[in-house]
Amino acid sequence: MSATQWDRVPIETQSIDAPLSQAAVFLVVTVANEAAALAKACAALDGLNDLVKTVGFRDLSARLSCIVGIGSDLWDRLLPDRRPRDLKSFAPIKGAVHAAPSTPGDLLFHIRSERPDLCFEFERLLLDSLDTGVTVVDEVSGFRYFDARDLLGFVDGTANPTGPDLPASAIVGDEDADFAGGSYVVVQKYLHDLGAWGQVPTPLQEAIVGRTKIDNVEIDDDDAPRKSHKSLATVVDAEGNEYDILRDNMPFGRPGQREFGTYFIGYSRRLWVIETMLQRMYVGDPPGAYDRLLDFSTPQTGTTFFAPSRATLERLVQAARERGATARPSEAPTPR
Ligand code: HEM
Repeated sequence: MSATQWDRVPIETQSIDAPLSQAAVFLVVTVANEAAALAKACAALDGLNDLVKTVGFRDLSARLSCIVGIGSDLWDRLLPDRRPRDLKSFAPIKGAVHAAPSTPGDLLFHIRSERPDLCFEFERLLLDSLDTGVTVVDEVSGFRYFDARDLLGFVDGTANPTGPDLPASAIVGDEDADFAGGSYVVVQKYLHDLGAWGQVPTPLQEAIVGRTKIDNVEIDDDDAPRKSHKSLATVVDAEGNEYDILRDNMPFGRPGQREFGTYFIGYSRRLWVIETMLQRMYVGDPPGAYDRLLDFSTPQTGTTFFAPSRATLERLVQAARERGATARPSEAPTPR
């Protein structure tokens, strides 16, 4: 949707291409293993678009948006016989030095706005509607830091795909027609050791990231003894095709607790692309030459979701209701 259209109406849920924002909330919940909890989750998913309108219309210029991602286990409870081709839980990764854990999550809500108060209000009302059926496993409020820098001081998000490259990289197409318009989403919450990072001379920091710090220019490290983050996160197939993902990382933190982090979120048309990036970062290329960002950044979470298109989300909720998956025991259809 064009920016002009977004000036007139709230942003539809599941708009993967919604604009990057000044503020964001990343909310991950699990849904209790009871039909009543699933019913509440379905009702909340059904009402998501209306909730974006309810909160977002109060200031359209704040561009509130929300994308919900559904984890593999919850997907099986909603629609066991039809699932996005590649959807599976996040597989933990064990490199020689650093590891990426896999952590629980049935639903991810990626809430974005120019105004943190709109994110807050949306999350508050959303959790009211989910009620006691869910457990919040992680909740992070991110903020835009100067010129889109992470807390390590580097501009983050530059190489994101734009124009027609965005859907080509981030949105499932005809290769999985039932789920076209959706996107695989991987999140990881990282905590930084800013004290140790601050001891690293700027030229070495730049070699680790693969871009200059002040003016954000890409560094050619083809002949460097060790690959940078940027190069390890570049995935190219045997024919030389490069595969991008759409990232909307956000800094977060509590200086009083010495907590400084980056919330990584990546959207991809192909889950294997993000998995390959992670393998290259943690195992290294060649193996052992891992991403040195990890010496200063430790993942606390790691979860995979599928964000269906709005139409697929509606069909999913409808199908779960028709199957009786969300009925309380007393309301469940009697087996014949
Ligand atoms: C501590 C966490 C992370 C931080 C602070 C971080 C930071 C950065 C920065 C500063 C850049 C260079 C500018 C840009 O193009 O955005 C970058 C590039 C990139 N990062 Fe990360 N990143 C993190 C984790 C990840 C993870 C977990 C992945 C993938 C699984 C990833 C994928 C990428 C990709 C694809 C690029 C662009 C590479 C290219 O130039 O083509 N990043 N990241």
